[in-house]
Amino acid sequence: MLNPRLDLLADYPFQRLTELLGPVTADAVVMSIGEPQHAPPPLVAEILAANAGLWGKYPPANGSPDFRRAVAAWLERRFVLPGGLIDPDTAILPVAGTREALYLIAQTVCGQNAAEPPLVLLPNPFYQVYLGAAVMAGAAPVLVAGRDGPVGQPDFTTLPDSVLARTALAYLCSPANPQGAVADRDLLLRNVALARRWGFVLAVDECYSEIWDTTEPAGALSACAALDGRLDNVVVFHSLSKRSSVPGLRSGFVAGDPRVIAAFARLRSYGGAATPLPILAAAAALWRDEAHVAANRDLYRAKVDIAERLLGNRFGFRRPPGGFFLWLDVGDGEAAARTLWQEARLRVLPGAYLARPGADGINPGSAYIRVALVHDLATTEQALTRLAAVL
Ligand SMILES: Cc1ncc(COP(=O)(O)O)c(C=O)c1O
Repeated sequence: MLNPRLDLLADYPFQRLTELLGPVTADAVVMSIGEPQHAPPPLVAEILAANAGLWGKYPPANGSPDFRRAVAAWLERRFVLPGGLIDPDTAILPVAGTREALYLIAQTVCGQNAAEPPLVLLPNPFYQVYLGAAVMAGAAPVLVAGRDGPVGQPDFTTLPDSVLARTALAYLCSPANPQGAVADRDLLLRNVALARRWGFVLAVDECYSEIWDTTEPAGALSACAALDGRLDNVVVFHSLSKRSSVPGLRSGFVAGDPRVIAAFARLRSYGGAATPLPILAAAAALWRDEAHVAANRDLYRAKVDIAERLLGNRFGFRRPPGGFFLWLDVGDGEAAARTLWQEARLRVLPGAYLARPGADGINPGSAYIRVALVHDLATTEQALTRLAAVL
């Protein structure tokens, strides 16, 4: 009766965590989920209220011209793109959060009539939606380990031609969830060139790009600009959830190759949730404002400072170059998560739930826990003090 491909998906990490620890209790400090608890900018509520009259309208699948223009201008500013590279009308699509977009891109791209299923390349560890997307699109996932082990970015250029020839889609995540590793410009350039050479789509999840420590992460669109000024084979995913601390707004966008965007828009007109017009208005204002983003970034940086002071050089601590997760080597991530819950009411995620065993049979996340620095400074300080004491 049900789609047998669903059997190929493991339970989502948070279900697995509930199985391991039981339900969240009132005294819990939840650092297992990357849900920013910073106050959202007041302009969100103001603009939603001012546009309340628009709740009565079905929104167009491709959003409003004002939203698309705000996004195009932001991309040009942030990634120093030449004017005209991003046509707001053909290269940008609003999405109801990037999770659905990262899922639907596989449906958009996979499905060629080949004798064997197409391949989808993903990092390992990885954001779990990539795997679900590949499997449900009928593709075979290929998990690619980090260049520097479980803390680094994968390098798809080292894969054999036999794999690349069958590849339909490759996911990169930079800054990476969970490790915070950033794909440098050289790696992005090589991946863009690789996607074009082998005719696959490179989907770059950049939803943590605005939360960085010392250096603004490069983006795949700047790699396109540097390479030849074309967007061929590349799409990037950006979200307001982390940048502007509004995960509940469900607002992001996809930008890139107009051929992919047009196909994606067609698919979404059947099965996607169009973003409501009041949300598009608030989102456009957020993309036009950098002051709240800089303040947000400073707050994350202050929490990483606390982590560095409290954890020092234990647990393989390193400042994440991007994003807001600590990725700590604790020997046995599940055991550590259990102990932290039982002894300190701290809820963290075992790294194994964010990875799958590689060809060597080893799960590259199993020694790690992921700790989301999403709370205020005082809560973070208390929680990390307890974490250090218990572990
Ligand atoms: C790597 C990564 N990509 C995408 C998302 C999806 O975010 P949203 O759907 O809120 O845009 C998340 C959320 O946690 C994430 O960690």
